[in-house]
Amino acid sequence: MSENPGPTTIRVEGENPYDVVVGHHLLGELGTLLGTGVRRVLVVHPGALTASAEAVREDLVAHGYQAFLAEVPEAEEAKSVQVAAFLWQVLGQADFTRSDAVVGLGGGATTDLAGFVAATWLRGMKVIQVPTTLLAMVDAAVGGKTGINTAEGKNLVGAFHPPAGVLCDLETLDSLPVHDRVAGLGEVIKAGFIADERILEIVEADPRGLTAPALTGAARGALRELIERSIAIKARVVGQDLREADLREILNYGHTFGHAIEHVERFSWRHGAAVSVGMVFAAELARLAGRLDDEVVDRHRAVLTAVGLPVSYRGDRWDKLLAAMRRDKKSRGDLLRFVVLEGIGRPTRLEGPDPALLAAAYAEVSRDAPSGAPVHL
Ligand code: GLY
Repeated sequence: MSENPGPTTIRVEGENPYDVVVGHHLLGELGTLLGTGVRRVLVVHPGALTASAEAVREDLVAHGYQAFLAEVPEAEEAKSVQVAAFLWQVLGQADFTRSDAVVGLGGGATTDLAGFVAATWLRGMKVIQVPTTLLAMVDAAVGGKTGINTAEGKNLVGAFHPPAGVLCDLETLDSLPVHDRVAGLGEVIKAGFIADERILEIVEADPRGLTAPALTGAARGALRELIERSIAIKARVVGQDLREADLREILNYGHTFGHAIEHVERFSWRHGAAVSVGMVFAAELARLAGRLDDEVVDRHRAVLTAVGLPVSYRGDRWDKLLAAMRRDKKSRGDLLRFVVLEGIGRPTRLEGPDPALLAAAYAEVSRDAPSGAPVHL
């Protein structure tokens, strides 16, 4: 097999089906994903990706499109109503119509913002997502959740607006800091626990290689398989339940406690690290509720630790964590809801667990945490 096999296409079914293409040197594929009828394209990107954005713009112009660049702040700073308003202004001044398109080039924050602006401009125009981080490839850019933050919290304003296509160019991962790759592996491992044990086996086979500063050929191949498998799971889930009426909730495995950590730590933790501890919490909760074997709980700690993700959290934050979980938008009514496992690939829900059970799961998660300063990536 050559070092870089050709692209893989994963179909996301639903009302408006689209393709997620995974491979190398894919930016030339944008024209195909844009389809017919598009004349103007706005490429939304953070400053760090200006050179790539310029290359995309030149390629689009060479293919006959009118292409524009809009630089937005890095990471969560991009997800504000002010930045969205700036993009609406750019679209307005360049006469973008509903049949034109936005491209989101960057990490999850950029793709969330670009998707939101596309969802709201003229009540909805095309967006093509070009994620450049592992987390965005396996999660944020696929599935059509878009949004911005407000002073009251993350993603409180948004829309379900599936992209017209997603391009995961694996070349972009070469410049991704190792800590971001490790954080992305948190969501990959989540996909393994909820739906695909093979993902866990691949990670367990070479955790050092997957987290080495420079990836060897074998680790590159393994990472690609992990990305494709994770996207395939997400595609299957969101293809059946775009609006999170039921099945899509399983993608939130580890997120209720993980979001609470992010909130309590004022978003200084990477999302994947918080979700990692959240999965251990959910696994302990399931074990204490009599639903999950010790062996699977131990496997959570082992595989997450092997890639350098945290599995414990300080023991003096319960009241704040509980308050944050109660505010989490995934709780329905007054009841706290958790996605838990009954085995690998067997997710289910636990609604309104006994407070004593929650406290006991927290005790397990904080058991090995160093006191004082939090552990995070
Ligand atoms: N990140 C979870 C979802 O897309 O539903």
